[in-house]
Amino acid sequence: MYLLSICFVLLNIAASFAAETTFDTSRWTQSKIPIANPSGESLVLNTIDSPPRSNATQNGVILILHGWPETSHQFRHVITPLSDAGYRVIVPDYRGAGLSSKPKSGYEKFQMAEDMHTLIQSHFNISEKIHVVGNDIGGMIAWAYSARYPNDTASVAWGEVPLPGTVFWEEIYSSPEAYHFSFNAVPDLPEALVTGKERTYIQSFYDGVSVKTHWITDELVDYYAHQFSRPGALRAGFELYRAFAQDVKENKEWLEKNGKVKVPTLGMFGGAFVLANGGEMVREVAEAVEDLVIPGTGHWLAEESPGEWVEGVLKFVGKHS
Ligand SMILES: *[C@@H]1O[C@H](CO)[C@@H](O)[C@H](O)[C@H]1NC(C)=O
Ligand SMILES: *[C@@H]1O[C@H](CO)[C@@H](O)[C@H](O)[C@H]1NC(C)=O
Ligand SMILES: *[C@@H]1O[C@H](CO)[C@@H](O)[C@H](O)[C@H]1NC(C)=O
Repeated sequence: MYLLSICFVLLNIAASFAAETTFDTSRWTQSKIPIANPSGESLVLNTIDSPPRSNATQNGVILILHGWPETSHQFRHVITPLSDAGYRVIVPDYRGAGLSSKPKSGYEKFQMAEDMHTLIQSHFNISEKIHVVGNDIGGMIAWAYSARYPNDTASVAWGEVPLPGTVFWEEIYSSPEAYHFSFNAVPDLPEALVTGKERTYIQSFYDGVSVKTHWITDELVDYYAHQFSRPGALRAGFELYRAFAQDVKENKEWLEKNGKVKVPTLGMFGGAFVLANGGEMVREVAEAVEDLVIPGTGHWLAEESPGEWVEGVLKFVGKHS
């Protein structure tokens, strides 16, 4: 009897650890923002806007870009801490993700950087230089932003992704871990196979590339599965991969014409994941590079190690504010 109740206590403790930890949304505004980009498209971008805490030193704007298969929700634990430190933090679902529009095309990362620039400059009327931070596919877009809009970018921090057109890209693209780069890019087939099994497919990425797994609760996977079950959401996510061949071409052409990006750059990687040595790749495409390698962490930096992520980003952007 006594033993049994100890077991119950232990089970309860385990259950409380498995629950998603809370996060403070009290100062966020979340809205579906219509934009009209210079390429002539009208889109709606679901965006979180978190103002700096009013009694903090006002430090500028940080735009944060998620990866696949995630949404702006990826940054739920880091938005308010950055705002507490005096930054306005803007976190959109990019085209195709979450509650944003899911157009048929336009998933090239230079185009997606244009969407973001339109959101910042034309909707929010922010003309000062901003800090751009991106993880995974969001990292490809962050680099493209710093390349295309250097005069509007104070600093850029990106990683956990091979950038199309680099030497590292060639190495990772053909590795077994990146099987989905090829699979997701096949026309139509992945939609046909994954529809109705969104949860199984996307959870395999959270489990497969995480080192710290405390954040992968049933509740959270349900949340993301719901996002990817929306009409067009799977297709839109796969279009990110179908655009890679064009991204390789555009990135190489840009680098040949302009040389490396000159915006101050931070390479951000998980120390326990296969991309940990990505710093060399960042130096292939940017001139002034610092490194943040978060120890014992896998691919989902802001979910696995939010404290270290915030500390590293604040230290870096603070030098360029
Ligand atoms: C700002 O306000 C918060 C919440 O009221 C408080 O905890 C914090 O100490 C204040 N900070 C400064 C620098 O005054
Ligand atoms: C940006 O400026 C335009 C033109 O002055 C205005 O209509 C719009 O409301 C402003 N946007 C925001 C978010 O303040
Ligand atoms: C950035 O500003 C410089 C100096 O005004 C200008 O020469 C350059 O063309 C601008 N670059 C871009 C990409 O707009």
